[in-house]
Amino acid sequence: MERSAEPAARVAEALTRPAGAPGSTGPALNEPSRSVVGARTRYQPTEPVLLVIFGATGDLSRRKLLPSLYNLARDGLLPDGFALLGAAKEELKPDEFRELAAQSIRRWSRSQPVEEEILRALLGNLHYQPLDLRDEAGFGRLGRRLDELDKRTDKGHRLYYCATPPDIFATIVRNLDAAGLARSPPGHQRRILIEKPFGTDLQSARELNQLVTKVFGEQNVYRIDHYLAKETVQNILVLRFANSIFEPVWSNHYVDNVLITVAEQLGIEGRASYYERTGALRDMVQNHLLQLLTLVTLEAPVSYDHQALRDEKVKVLRAVRPLSPEDIDRLVVRAQYGAGVIWGQPVPGYREEPGIPPNSTTETYVALKLSIDNWRWAGVPFYLRTGKRLARRSSEVRIEFKPPPHLTFGREAAAGLEPNSITVKIQPDEGIVLRFGARAPAPGMEIRSVDMDFNYGRSFQRSAADAYEHLLNDCMLGDPTSFIRSDEVEAAWMLIDPIEARWATGRSPLFSYPAGSQGPDAADELLGREGRSWHPL
Ligand code: BG6
Repeated sequence: MERSAEPAARVAEALTRPAGAPGSTGPALNEPSRSVVGARTRYQPTEPVLLVIFGATGDLSRRKLLPSLYNLARDGLLPDGFALLGAAKEELKPDEFRELAAQSIRRWSRSQPVEEEILRALLGNLHYQPLDLRDEAGFGRLGRRLDELDKRTDKGHRLYYCATPPDIFATIVRNLDAAGLARSPPGHQRRILIEKPFGTDLQSARELNQLVTKVFGEQNVYRIDHYLAKETVQNILVLRFANSIFEPVWSNHYVDNVLITVAEQLGIEGRASYYERTGALRDMVQNHLLQLLTLVTLEAPVSYDHQALRDEKVKVLRAVRPLSPEDIDRLVVRAQYGAGVIWGQPVPGYREEPGIPPNSTTETYVALKLSIDNWRWAGVPFYLRTGKRLARRSSEVRIEFKPPPHLTFGREAAAGLEPNSITVKIQPDEGIVLRFGARAPAPGMEIRSVDMDFNYGRSFQRSAADAYEHLLNDCMLGDPTSFIRSDEVEAAWMLIDPIEARWATGRSPLFSYPAGSQGPDAADELLGREGRSWHPL
């Protein structure tokens, strides 16, 4: 319990701490780094950790996990006695894996240039074992290797990271169980990190939950949604609950509507087989967008404690009104991108992407309207949209407020005034913008919208830590606050399943939009018929 309060303190402290102060979660710009053996901070795990990455040669490991470990090392946030065992099907020698890790870190580390001394120290603690994840006997050999590594380093906690395609999560859990690698001996935890998507629907998520909680126990299961570990997403709670000026207006008394956007310019990036089976609803809405929705709408948790916070998240998810088939046709828009232009270059449509069938009906865009049936939010519409190959990369939550009850200055003076709003800019240009009306400096009375603008880079002079740094650090510390609980993942699927079921009947239209555009017209109509509009990308 004590430990779980730490991330709240960390965020609050980070917001007031000058750049480069001890305990920072990221380096100040131009700040000399603290080394692996540098000062211990309160967020440095003190107990040794042996991390096993399943799928260690894959994309997630190379782009995110290995660079994040380097940055944790650089910031003095790896425990003494840290070791990593990469496991994947490739027959690599340990040095070949170290070389792959070094290349990945040099290419994708957020802090550049990479400091060779720190990198070398980290590589010295990297090991590799070829492993067919479907082969139960292989896990016996893995166990012996882990015992050996335990002897070389200090015995510590073991973290198993499933950085693999989702269809093999259950097999990994079963094989770990069969080899006796999941049981936590006294004082040493065996924790498992599972990437999203957790299941493909409610039924499969339930089955996976049953298996993994039986084998590891819920307290050792860390279900990942990397959005929860983004600095700006964590700041939503700080904005709401570490300040007194926002929460009083955070309800249907003052809020007119909430718009949540996660727009990408990227396409499917060679993930045809995964994406074709998944689509934007499962890939983004079930997790990232619903998580943003819960953070914006939950009631104040009593403390920043993993149980208290996740209890509130589940409550609000359960208050989201389920959609009937008629609602789905009216309130949910699905679409697929056609050929278009991105960054000035022509790009193919989704159906022309390698590996995608020419008659695919998988959606690459979803927009929907949700309602929350509780005291605070009754009557407030929540509009969510996400898509690939859109005009701009932009993720934000925009809270639009109602107009003042009476126009003291008359209609004409306020003609060009936009609604008051608070926009939490998640990425890029991380920050928060408060939009309000101001008198234009001109004769007569003209009121115009102006912005008060908080920008992370400008205010803190440091680059934000990558979400995966937070996730790995939290898991090493044994803090599940930024991870998804079993009931939470199921509550989210309960909202998604009826939409997938309706779409599977083929009776709902699939719209299209050109790559590089604002999305389908139908998404504009969804808001337009209620007199509202999306913020242009
Ligand atoms: C992942 C999705 O979870 O999130 C990807 O599977 C998506 O399709 C990615 O591109 C977006 O994450 P971020 O951090 O780049 O916004």
